[in-house]
Amino acid sequence: MKEIKLQRRLDELVKIIEDLHRFNILTYQANRVKELYKLIVEQTTNIMKTKIGSLMLYNPKKNRLEIVASRGLSKEVVKTTSLLPGEGIAGRVFVEGDAIFCEDIEKDRRFKRKSHVKYYSKSFISVPLKVRNKVIGVLNINNKKSRKPFTVEEMKILTVIADEAAMTIENMQLLKRIEEAYIESIQTLAKVVDERMPSTRGHSRRVAELAFRFGRELELDERFLFILKNAALIHDIGKIGIPDKILLKPYKLNPKERKIIQKHPAIGETVISRAEFFKDFVPIVAFHHEWWNGKGYPLGLKGEQIPLGARIISICDAWDAMTSSRPYRATLSKQEAIKELKKYSGIQFDPSLVKVFLKFIQRKKNL
Ligand SMILES: [Fe+2]
Repeated sequence: MKEIKLQRRLDELVKIIEDLHRFNILTYQANRVKELYKLIVEQTTNIMKTKIGSLMLYNPKKNRLEIVASRGLSKEVVKTTSLLPGEGIAGRVFVEGDAIFCEDIEKDRRFKRKSHVKYYSKSFISVPLKVRNKVIGVLNINNKKSRKPFTVEEMKILTVIADEAAMTIENMQLLKRIEEAYIESIQTLAKVVDERMPSTRGHSRRVAELAFRFGRELELDERFLFILKNAALIHDIGKIGIPDKILLKPYKLNPKERKIIQKHPAIGETVISRAEFFKDFVPIVAFHHEWWNGKGYPLGLKGEQIPLGARIISICDAWDAMTSSRPYRATLSKQEAIKELKKYSGIQFDPSLVKVFLKFIQRKKNL
């Protein structure tokens, strides 16, 4: 009998170790901060077999603990719950840095609960998220599916989960800060390109904004929108390698000069390929002058051989070039630009994208 019990206990422990291992793998694979928060709560409530769970992080700007992901809580609770450090149970866990564990809130003397109030949660565990002894938030779970109270052992398991979660959050926030530094450098690069050519000042910024809005219209995911916007900002970065006398020529280029300027996508590709962070921007920078019919440059890619991001930027780039003033030709009106896009649909531009773009552009009064 004793052996069977021991075996069962061992099986349970093995299961917990497996669950924790899966938790680590899954959370390390998260791409974005929001996705990571959601995963932490989902996995925690699964492992702990609870109906309710929430992850609260400290927002230093507001001096408040806020729910960044939850399960089993109403939208209203999520939106309205924000605690000052020290306030409520989570606030206390945050300040003191120690877990609070309660079997039955109505019977627990530490909490002055009123008997006539119905609590959605009787038993709960709140553990701090610690990174190098600094508390960054609180992980809460309530209401076991089995309706039994939590045990001390479960509190220990949740503490292990919280330690892992805190470390992963910290790593991702660090990466985010690095990413922000890169974005800043992209914006500086974009300015350098734009300011060299006073005639097209603001072009990269406008193309980026337009590509982002068009990308949203195409229902592209958040990551793709991020790539699209930032790659658009530096799509012409290769122009830094083109001599001023060609780049700034106020009238039409001769064939030789055109050949030189056509090198800018390849130069751009070489420049950005050096940094791992720009890896996803390369197809856009390298192929934004390819044509749908294969008559573009640098490779003469055809149709869907051209990466989607490059096909999108190609339309936005042309739209901005047509509708903003250039020294060697007049600015086109919105109607004239629409006509041009239609004319080159299936020749220069992806026809199915043009279709969506035209609907989008006609709806927007300010474009
Ligand atoms: Fe270009």
